Amino acid sequence: SENIYILGIESSCDDTAASVIHNGKILSNIVANQSIHEEFGGVVPELASRAHQQNIVPVVHQALAKANITKEQLHAIAFTRGPGLMGSLLVGTSFAKSLAYGLDIPLIDVNHMQGHILAHFIDVEGYNKPPFPFLAMTISGGHTQIVKVKHYFDMEVIGETIDDAVGEAYDKSGKILGLGYPAGPEIDKRAQLGNPKAFKFTKPKVDGLNFSFSGLKTAILYFIQKETKANPNFIDEHLNDICASIQYTIIGILIDKLKLATKETGIKHIAIGGGVSANSGIRKALKDGEQKFGWTTYVPKFEFTTDNAAMIAIVGYLKYLDQDFSESNITASARLKI
Ligand code: KG4
Ligand code: ZN
Repeated sequence: SENIYILGIESSCDDTAASVIHNGKILSNIVANQSIHEEFGGVVPELASRAHQQNIVPVVHQALAKANITKEQLHAIAFTRGPGLMGSLLVGTSFAKSLAYGLDIPLIDVNHMQGHILAHFIDVEGYNKPPFPFLAMTISGGHTQIVKVKHYFDMEVIGETIDDAVGEAYDKSGKILGLGYPAGPEIDKRAQLGNPKAFKFTKPKVDGLNFSFSGLKTAILYFIQKETKANPNFIDEHLNDICASIQYTIIGILIDKLKLATKETGIKHIAIGGGVSANSGIRKALKDGEQKFGWTTYVPKFEFTTDNAAMIAIVGYLKYLDQDFSESNITASARLKI
């Protein structure tokens, strides 16, 4: 296994993505975002599926062109089998199956959540990969999980959200405040200009390592309704402080659970992934954790942390080394577990 080229395809939610990996190194990482969902304030599954159908061929072509290889040079096709939106997964799955069949090369099914975690094993100059065992926290618009990672394909979910994902908490709070979608980046930007202790939101009480964010969203809604009744300009006058207070609460919830997870497992290596890992508050809190609690933290490059196909390609490569290929009758699985 000297010169392995693998194409990764990701279509689980609203991004159509393709990537070529050569051994452990990414040669191309193409993502077509679907701006169509912005006006609806969230992902519309039917529109996502249609956009994937339009995007997938050009995105794959771009990934091959950028990598400067032809499809005949590929050794295998890796694709996201799940979890995700069924209509979206079906586009990537059927495309990957036909391409692998046409080229007569192996097909490799990939779990999207394992992809977020194994993205840390992409070869990037100057990036230290986490040693086993480590804890992985995946935080995005669709997921909130803490996973104990004993080896590449030996993982155990030890905590997850029982309702909304953390990115949803950001996006739904943003909607209440009249911000655009997705609101996470703007709340983060404003949070850095505001007072995190201006307003207090109580943290949800959830046992163990699980999370809950739907109560926080409701608390913010009631708070804003009450305040704007007294002062119609309340949001405008206090937007940065509101954002800072929301962010302070959310980061506090994440860090409390990480503290508990490190205590329960004795593992102090923490790797994060998912779109919310771009957040300045979580990044700072993790750095503080290195000083305060002796953690070692791992934050991948941004392009490998939001939904992307490079993370699917790296899992494809690791499975290729194990000769772990899909059966030809493999199907998409919307609720696939780690
Ligand atoms: O991983 P991702 O691109 O897609 C999935 O949801 O799977 O993550 C998008 C989510 C959105 O909810 C967005 O608001 C959030 O990540 N996000 C952020 C930041 N950047 C993106 N949330 C907080 N702070 C940020 N800087
Ligand atoms: Zn994701």
